[in-house]
Amino acid sequence: MNNYIEDLILKSKNAIKMSYSPFSGFKVGTALLCEDGSVFTAANIECSSFSLTICGERAVFAKALSEGKRKFRAIAISTNQNKIIYPCGACLQFMSEFNNKLEIILAVSPRKYKIYLLKELLPYNFKL
Ligand code: THU
Repeated sequence: MNNYIEDLILKSKNAIKMSYSPFSGFKVGTALLCEDGSVFTAANIECSSFSLTICGERAVFAKALSEGKRKFRAIAISTNQNKIIYPCGACLQFMSEFNNKLEIILAVSPRKYKIYLLKELLPYNFKL
């Protein structure tokens, strides 16, 4: 029942090593579970023009979306910080475009994590 949670956490932790974060040293790994069971992973990507940085959450959505995925069930987010880290507001807004009830798994380890629904972290998203 909870196997997908552990699997996603392990995949997100593994993706931390793909982080390109020479400026902050803050490494984020993400694993996104699509409704069809496929899983995509990504990491944050920084840029010397700092505002062009791409968060790990949006990176993994870009990978899945550009492979044609549109329905998402859960995302695991791990970092190199050894504590629970919450996604930034921009990423919450971005993810809310696709599923307000997305499960957001904030992981320290497969045994230490918190789960929220996206709408708990962003109750009022912007809508056109
Ligand atoms: N970062 C993410 O990947 N996700 C977030 O939700 C917030 C921040 C990244 C961006 C940057 O590379 C580093 O963390 C420090 O801000």
